[in-house]
Amino acid sequence: MASNYSDLRGKTALITGCNRGIGKDVLTKFASQGVNIVACVRTASNEFSAYLNTLCENYDVNIEIVFVDLANPESITSAMREIFQKKIQIDILINNAGVAFGGLFSMTSMAKLREVFEINFFSQVQITQYVVKWMRKRGCGVIINMASIAGIDGMEGFTAYGSSKAAMVYLTKMLSKELAMSGIRVNAVAPGLINTELVKQLDNKAVNKMVGQSSLGRLGTPDEIAELVVFLSSDSSRFIDGQIIRIDGGM
Ligand SMILES: NC(=O)c1ccc[n+]([C@@H]2O[C@H](COP(=O)([O-])OP(=O)(O)OC[C@H]3O[C@@H](n4cnc5c(N)ncnc54)[C@H](OP(=O)(O)O)[C@@H]3O)[C@@H](O)[C@H]2O)c1
Repeated sequence: MASNYSDLRGKTALITGCNRGIGKDVLTKFASQGVNIVACVRTASNEFSAYLNTLCENYDVNIEIVFVDLANPESITSAMREIFQKKIQIDILINNAGVAFGGLFSMTSMAKLREVFEINFFSQVQITQYVVKWMRKRGCGVIINMASIAGIDGMEGFTAYGSSKAAMVYLTKMLSKELAMSGIRVNAVAPGLINTELVKQLDNKAVNKMVGQSSLGRLGTPDEIAELVVFLSSDSSRFIDGQIIRIDGGM
């Protein structure tokens, strides 16, 4: 779908985990709308760097790679310092990166729970604290958190992942209230099952069952999630705040 959001042109979006999967499609769609990007990634292959160069040439945008390991708070601090020192102003923050872990409650160790929360929740909070400070000074901004239907529905076998996403859901609603007066909107996207590497890590039988029971009967595509993220970042969604928007093919 080729929506056009002219108000986004010239803005800058920070996206975590955009070297592949949903984040890469979000990055691509933003670039196609003339949005400059700070690509916060843990890894960047030569192929990915070449891809970014093509986007820059095709859409006349700037894309800056900033390396960060979300499992390491010090790495986040130095990444955010780098962005600050380069005087990059962030208009849009997309807290996208995440890891999946399927495991029943009784089989989820505390170490695994902490590991998943570190990446899916604490790291995003840390980044958001930096970015909010900058956005507040300018009195505007948009934040979009990548939640999941696992953080809304109680799904068996998703103790760590679902709880970390539920925390993102709460953070979104709470932040929208705290930040509205500063001109910052906060929403979350809650995808169902989307065709990326993340889904391939899940139990195939369980995935097929869930997809089979959904009304549209198929996996979603990263492009479909990116379309929603870009809409929520634009002025077209200016009256939407504090919402957790399911995009799940009717699960
Ligand atoms: N796919 C789905 O069905 C689905 C459903 C609901 C919600 N979501 C959410 O959507 C978001 C994107 O998922 P996806 O499907 O695109 O997954 P994906 O293809 O597995 O991509 C995950 C991204 O997160 C990054 N990441 C993971 N651990 C990191 C770390 N320690 N430091 C920095 N980056 C890290 C990965 O970087 P590396 O390449 O370096 O590993 C990668 O860019 C996640 O928050 C996920 O929970 C996905």
